[in-house]
Amino acid sequence: MRFGWQMPVTLRFGAGCADEMPATLGGRAAVVMAFEPAGRLGLESRWRAAMGERLLDWVPIADGLSSLARARELSDRIWPQLRRQPGCVLIAVGGGTTLDLAKVVRCRPQEDDFERVTAALRGEAPWPVLAAAPLWLLPTTAGTGSEVTRWATVWDTDAEPAVKRSLDEAFGYAERAWVDPVLTLSCPPAVTRDTALDALAHALESIWNRQGNPLSDRLAVSAARRVIAALPGCLAAPADLSLRSELSLAALEAGLAFSQTRTALAHALSYALTLEQGVPHGLACALWLPTAWQLALGRESRVDERLAEVFGTPAEQGPDRLRAWLEGVGVEARPAAFGISASDAEARIAAALGSPRGRNFVGAP
Ligand SMILES: [Fe+2]
Repeated sequence: MRFGWQMPVTLRFGAGCADEMPATLGGRAAVVMAFEPAGRLGLESRWRAAMGERLLDWVPIADGLSSLARARELSDRIWPQLRRQPGCVLIAVGGGTTLDLAKVVRCRPQEDDFERVTAALRGEAPWPVLAAAPLWLLPTTAGTGSEVTRWATVWDTDAEPAVKRSLDEAFGYAERAWVDPVLTLSCPPAVTRDTALDALAHALESIWNRQGNPLSDRLAVSAARRVIAALPGCLAAPADLSLRSELSLAALEAGLAFSQTRTALAHALSYALTLEQGVPHGLACALWLPTAWQLALGRESRVDERLAEVFGTPAEQGPDRLRAWLEGVGVEARPAAFGISASDAEARIAAALGSPRGRNFVGAP
């Protein structure tokens, strides 16, 4: 057995820990990219008071896709400030879109030319020499795990149809992250559910993954069990901070696990659904989880043993258990529910198994 582990992000977890962030700045300046509810929730006024003159700019980030076009616009506003204040920290507080945009915006080339970032993300040129800003992340969903991964997704909407581009580099990790469940209290029910399903998908995809190892397995099983136990209650009682904490911890565990293994078949299958029908990412992944579970059975004893731990039942009962649990949170996890015929599903699975993520899957040829 051989495996490695890299996790350069300094983490803080716990209710209220986001308010410790300004003190960590010391004398440094900062630019904050923030999801829109930050004002309504009082976070903006508390941080403005605590940061004083060190806060150079507060940049509101609206909901929506993270795209190259948005990253370019944000760079136009933020890069001049980063250039003027060496050591200035870029802080992002928000959901996956905000965090992923910040991961791209922090990649400022020495000559401030966004086209060089675009070319690198499109694979047309190597990354230029960067004057990268320190990046601190505070997720407000539970979640994408973006705060502990080295990658970010940005849609290239200049292409027709839009193409998914990935930042996936050793320099993609944040320096620091605060995972504060209080920040997720503002999540509406649909976002709470779909982001928790994304975390569940990260956990399961880390288990049925060729890169799975004993450490990622422990985190992944714990994460999956935590989502399954906490999500139904959290949807019924969205203000319950202890259930929110469980989901935040689950998303962090899943994020740590798949930061090492990457995703697999269900993610590979999800992207077309998001692009074709606008299905939210976590939901699009969840739809394929029972299918992927079925295909993962009997491939490796490690995988079967870990999958058996998820529901505490033999692994082969998992697909049905998972379908029933998903129905309980309002998700019909059958491709047909999204207009995908059985033969179409088979063709999609065959194609996905040959993709980079699909090849991580233990059931890939
Ligand atoms: Fe995901």
